[in-house]
Amino acid sequence: MVSLTRVALVALGAAHGANAWGELGHAAVAYVAQKYVTPEAASWAKEVLGDTSSSYLANIASWADKYRLTDEGSWSAPLHYIDALDDPPTNCNLDYERDCTAEGCSISAIANYTERVADTKLAAADTTEALKFLVHFIGDLVQPLHDESYELGGNGINTTFQGYSDNLHSDWDTYIPDELVGGSSLEDAQGWADSLAKEIDSGDYKAQAASWIKGDTVDDVIATATRWAVDANALVCTVVMPDGPDAFAEMGDLYPEYYDSVIGTIEVQVAKGGYRLGNWINMIYKEKITHGEEKPGKGKGPGKEHPKPPHPGHGGDVLPHPRLPPRANLARAAMGGSCCSSERRGEHRH
Ligand SMILES: *[C@@H]1O[C@H](CO)[C@@H](O)[C@H](O)[C@H]1NC(C)=O
Ligand SMILES: *[C@@H]1O[C@H](CO)[C@@H](O)[C@H](O)[C@H]1NC(C)=O
Ligand SMILES: [Zn+2]
Repeated sequence: MVSLTRVALVALGAAHGANAWGELGHAAVAYVAQKYVTPEAASWAKEVLGDTSSSYLANIASWADKYRLTDEGSWSAPLHYIDALDDPPTNCNLDYERDCTAEGCSISAIANYTERVADTKLAAADTTEALKFLVHFIGDLVQPLHDESYELGGNGINTTFQGYSDNLHSDWDTYIPDELVGGSSLEDAQGWADSLAKEIDSGDYKAQAASWIKGDTVDDVIATATRWAVDANALVCTVVMPDGPDAFAEMGDLYPEYYDSVIGTIEVQVAKGGYRLGNWINMIYKEKITHGEEKPGKGKGPGKEHPKPPHPGHGGDVLPHPRLPPRANLARAAMGGSCCSSERRGEHRH
């Protein structure tokens, strides 16, 4: 069944591909997280966000996607993803040093905002911003196509889903989850999160949930977030495009066969994102808020104090072959990172 929302989104054309995990996915990650946040950490987070409601994380989970589409927030667009320069389906890999550019990426952003949310020298508005970004980016990171550069994270792979012309990225972000849940409201997200949390507590995910957060530490955010991104990137080869990107041209409608082959992974990823986010907030509260001062002289932190030079080939030639690494830089530039009219900026991909 096709919902009105979906029709409306399709009618908006390019804009519909702009969401990252649609609102449903981000809100579900947030609601799952809320279940695992300790009461003390929850009080702190509610205070930071100025929201004591029972949806305090879900309410702001998609804020970053709206912000990056404004002129004021366009600088933050590259922070929603990391473009792994790999070669699916035969070779998936992600390398923080190689793949995170001077403009930043999801991993450096998680490091930055983990520091900032606990920085008592910052204004309240900055701390609030930091937590809003964290809730969003930890959600983005579990979407495999946010950890992948091929065809702009799958935005350039044309697909058909339930009769609509789509692209693979928006199918993963929005249409496949919406089909599963049957809507994209906060209530829908909460219902989905309830069932995912049940799987974590006593169902299918019980045995694996501990591994999702194993080794996570706010003392080395880059290493932790890189592990999360590597985990999701591997799924590009095994689940997202196991037969390679060219297979989509022959596939016909992604519903129901492709949908059936990926929906279980999408559920696990949303559960994982929520479980990690809840644990992350707990760790920030415990290690960085209640224990007060950060230890001085730590080498980790937000990193990127000396930004690396961009990938070789930055701003270079437009090569026809889609698999050459410099294309990722061109894509990034096209998304407003370093150039382009505001019209082009409306086409942000992730
Ligand atoms: C950290 O976040 C602030 C506030 O959003 C931003 O201005 C700054 O550029 C970020 N720094 C890094 C290194 O990402
Ligand atoms: C994908 O679709 C877009 C427009 O919907 C079109 O411009 C583009 O050429 C298509 N790409 C391929 C590879 O078919
Ligand atoms: Zn995003």
